[in-house]
Amino acid sequence: MKLRKGVILAGGMGTRLAPLTQVTNKHLLPVYDRPMVTYPIEKMVDAGIEEILLVTGGEFAGDFLRLLGNGKAFGIKKLHYTYQEGHGGIAAALLLAEDFADGEPMVIILGDNIFSASLEPFVQKYDAVGSGAMILLKEVKDASRFGVATVNDKRVEKIVEKPAKPESNLAVTGVYFYDRRVFEIVKKLKPSARDELEITDVNNTYIRWGQMRWAKLSGWWSDAGTFESLYRATELVRKTRLAGKKK
Ligand code: G1P
Repeated sequence: MKLRKGVILAGGMGTRLAPLTQVTNKHLLPVYDRPMVTYPIEKMVDAGIEEILLVTGGEFAGDFLRLLGNGKAFGIKKLHYTYQEGHGGIAAALLLAEDFADGEPMVIILGDNIFSASLEPFVQKYDAVGSGAMILLKEVKDASRFGVATVNDKRVEKIVEKPAKPESNLAVTGVYFYDRRVFEIVKKLKPSARDELEITDVNNTYIRWGQMRWAKLSGWWSDAGTFESLYRATELVRKTRLAGKKK
């Protein structure tokens, strides 16, 4: 089945960005000239994703409606919203997308992941098989802040979440492609040491099943969940915008 659905995860408490996140949701904070959440939206729309589910939570959930409305101004054909209670982690948030997915594959983007490349070639790569999972990896200097993948040419061998001693410099970015079996997996997960259902455990299950593919994300990529990374993402967007204007 062709990929046409996307989920943006924009919940969580954003504690690493307090006190900024005491007065708004992390994903509504500015990254240069726009609210953070609009970046993953633009990537999905440009890649031809037709229906988007925004998963949010916390006190400021209503502000997403004020910004995005029915999504038309952002080029979204159909925008859906859902609300995550508490903070059960990324994988728990995904469960709220089960009815939305309705058996179809989905691309998931963590709402604080900002990158320059087009998603289109990756959507095509996923569609070429159309089932299983696919992750996008990126070389980083500070791998221990992320899920870290050990790969050989074709296969991902394993992913370790925030390892003290990373085996590689390949971070697992917050862009994931899953088929319908992801919900089966999430329902069997046990909470991690930080008391969350971890997306890394979902990915490791697909790896065990021999159903995980990977690709390298080209261009630049940054998360924006800490002061340093938010600042870096802002700078990268600014540079890209200014370079675009000069042309
Ligand atoms: C999450 C994932 C991690 C991934 C990262 C990408 O980390 O758990 O595997 O590398 O997003 O941004 P978190 O931001 O929840 O610490």
